[in-house]
Amino acid sequence: MPELSGRRKTTRPGPAPEHAPGRALWINGRIVRGAEAVLSIFDRGARDGEGLFETLRVQRAEPLHWELHMERLVLSAAELGFPVPEAPERLREGLAELLKAEGLDDAVARITVTRGVPGGRPTRTGAWIDVERHGARRWKGIGRGGARVIFSKRPFHPGALGRYKTTSRLAFSLAREEARAAGADETVLCREDGEALEGATSNLFVVADGEIRTPPLACGILPGIVRAWVLSTSCLLGLEAREADIARASLADAREIFLTNSVQGVVPVATVDDHPVPDREIGLRLHEAYEEMARRGG
Ligand SMILES: Cc1ncc(COP(=O)(O)O)c(C=O)c1O
Repeated sequence: MPELSGRRKTTRPGPAPEHAPGRALWINGRIVRGAEAVLSIFDRGARDGEGLFETLRVQRAEPLHWELHMERLVLSAAELGFPVPEAPERLREGLAELLKAEGLDDAVARITVTRGVPGGRPTRTGAWIDVERHGARRWKGIGRGGARVIFSKRPFHPGALGRYKTTSRLAFSLAREEARAAGADETVLCREDGEALEGATSNLFVVADGEIRTPPLACGILPGIVRAWVLSTSCLLGLEAREADIARASLADAREIFLTNSVQGVVPVATVDDHPVPDREIGLRLHEAYEEMARRGG
C-alpha cells in the first residue's frame, strides 16, 4: 500500500501536547500561557457555545488559504448576527506572534471568535488562536496509505446551522469519539433516510461511473475549503466532478472514496466499516496535487 505524501515532521520539535498548561495562546491581542488563558463566563461562547472557528494548515509559517478561511469566518459572523470580529489582518499578526512564541513553522492553527460579552459598547467578539504541531493531528491511516472510516451509529441532521463552522460541536465530537473507539480515522455521518452527508471533520467524495461526486451543499453540510478546491481543480486534471446525493448503501460498493479537510488535505479511504475500498487512484492524484499546491504555498 503506498504511503501518502504530505508533511510528516515539523522542522523543530513541537510544543507540549494540546491542552498542556504551558502552551501559549493568543487571546484578544495578547500572548498568554497556562492559567492566564481565560475567557469570561459571561462570554456567550463560554456560556452557550455561540462561537465560530476556522482550522487551517500553516506551512513554513504561512497559513494556507488564509483569505478563504477569513471570508468564511467574516461572512458567517455577519450572517449570524455576531458583533464585528477582530480584523483578519490583526488575526494574522496574532497568528505570526503565536507561531514564534511556540517555535512552530508547520502547524495546525485554530482561530475562534465568540459572540462576546453582551452589553459592552460596542460589543466585540472574543477571539483566540491556538496552534499545534501539524504532525500531531494527522490521521494514522495517512501513513498506511488510506483512511479507515466507519459509519456513525447515530443519525445526523446538520440543521439550519450546519453550513456554519460553529463551536457547538457536541454532535461532531461524539462522532469523532466513535471513530477513536473503533480505531478509525473518521466517522461518516448519515441522515435517517440513509443519505451520506459528510465526515465528522471532513467532506465526503465518491468516484462512480467515471465521475467524482460529493453530497450537495443544499443538504446543509459545511462548505469545506478543500471540497471547493477539489471541485475546481478536478477539471484541470481532466476529471469530472459534481454534487450528487450519495446513499449510504452505495458506499459499500463504491470503487473509490476520499475525504477532504484543511488539516488532512485530500485523503483516499482504505476501508469503510473494515471493508476494503478497491481503488485509490483518483484520490491519490488529488492528494498529490493538493500537497504540491500546499508546498507552493497555495
Ligand atoms: C463537519 C465538517 N465538514 C467538513 C469539514 C472540512 O472543511 P474544510 O475543508 O474547510 O477544512 C470540516 C472541517 O473541520 C468539518 O468539521
